[in-house]
Amino acid sequence: MKKILRLTGAKITEEPKKKIAGKQRNAFLREKNEADRDTAPRLPISVCINVEGNRLTAVRFSPEAAAKISRAKGFPHYDLSPEEKRGKLRKLLDYDFSSVIPHGIVQQRTHFNPLASTYFPHMWDVRAGGKRTTQELFHDGEKLPRAMWKRNKLRDRSKQELQEESSLPNIFGVYLPPSVLTLSSRQKALRTYSGTQGVSNFSPVAAASIYHHLLPDRGGVTWDMSCGWGGRLLGAIGCKKVRKYIGCDPAVETFKGLEQTRDELLPMARNMGRDLDVEIYRLGSETKEMTKLKPNSADLCWTSPPYFAQERYSGDPAQSWKKYPDQESWLNAFMAATLDNCAYCLKSDGILATNIANVSSYKGSLEDDFVVLAKSKGFTHVDTLTLLLSAMPGAKQKYGKHKSEPIFVFRKR
Ligand SMILES: C[S@@+](CC[C@H](N)C(=O)[O-])C[C@H]1O[C@@H](n2cnc3c(N)ncnc32)[C@H](O)[C@@H]1O
Repeated sequence: MKKILRLTGAKITEEPKKKIAGKQRNAFLREKNEADRDTAPRLPISVCINVEGNRLTAVRFSPEAAAKISRAKGFPHYDLSPEEKRGKLRKLLDYDFSSVIPHGIVQQRTHFNPLASTYFPHMWDVRAGGKRTTQELFHDGEKLPRAMWKRNKLRDRSKQELQEESSLPNIFGVYLPPSVLTLSSRQKALRTYSGTQGVSNFSPVAAASIYHHLLPDRGGVTWDMSCGWGGRLLGAIGCKKVRKYIGCDPAVETFKGLEQTRDELLPMARNMGRDLDVEIYRLGSETKEMTKLKPNSADLCWTSPPYFAQERYSGDPAQSWKKYPDQESWLNAFMAATLDNCAYCLKSDGILATNIANVSSYKGSLEDDFVVLAKSKGFTHVDTLTLLLSAMPGAKQKYGKHKSEPIFVFRKR
């Protein structure tokens, strides 16, 4: 016998047959109002379960219930335990980076992003492209249920899930399965909702593969001019060709995360037999102080810098978009001085690699202007790699569902 049960509020009760009355009803309403105050739902908050005979065949949540559970679980940022960190680091150290860039296309591999991002919970507050931040969406009682519903609609489904869905009673059409409540699904709901933009970390596997691809076989020294959320630092720990990683980033919170990454993961890596030097500075890449890097000492300068004012990493005055608010001074003072520092510290045949892309906050082509500027600083453009980014459900891009960005590779003349 098929039976659909409806569970209301926080309590799991079969659809009430009799109306509750008097004091009991008032207490129920008080409790419900308390619970609902923050989310102010428009649709009933309920959970449905499907029982056939004695067997529970499905549990589904209304979007409002899913949003409420999601908020009760807390913001879905990564927070790995020491065991999880050790386990992931072990796997990263065993990874084969030699096959990640076939024909100049850097494949998208995100397995180790959580390990890098666990040290940077503030990355979810960054405003990108002037849109709503993921934190703002998470706290929006009206929009979060819609975001979770939309995420469920767009996600890829396994054959088994499709079969299960087609056999469920109609009422389940707008009700969401438990899989929307996993951490990664809740993150994706926040990232993909229209009008909202989250930032992404640089994949440690992509970073490590680029070190592997561009550093000489004997290994070498690299300068990361804008460390960001530690993806390239973790990639440097992972790729055995990196003998020394030097990094800088002026953002106060980000720098704390970089220090934590270094202080926790480097000793772990050393215990696993992997050693390298790590030097990090809370400085802008364009500053005179960066000439403290020894001249003719680096084999590679490799980063993904800010894309002008597209992502507002923090309001610190040292942020490039704050210090150089118009695009001419940003290009000709910030970026030009950074490239001068690269030319200063690179060895004579050293490599400069930069992931940069056109964005709406920059009028004209940031990619073209960057290449022209780098050439004017004495670099020869030798290659352009393609970096595959996240897949957008339903999107048709040059590389299937993947968006992509260039990585310009130059050699110091
Ligand atoms: C590298 S990206 C961060 C996100 C990116 N997806 C990544 O690769 O991790 C941009 C970084 O540039 C940093 N930044 C801003 N102004 C800078 C400056 N003057 N010099 C160097 N880095 C700067 C920001 O603090 C931010 O962490």
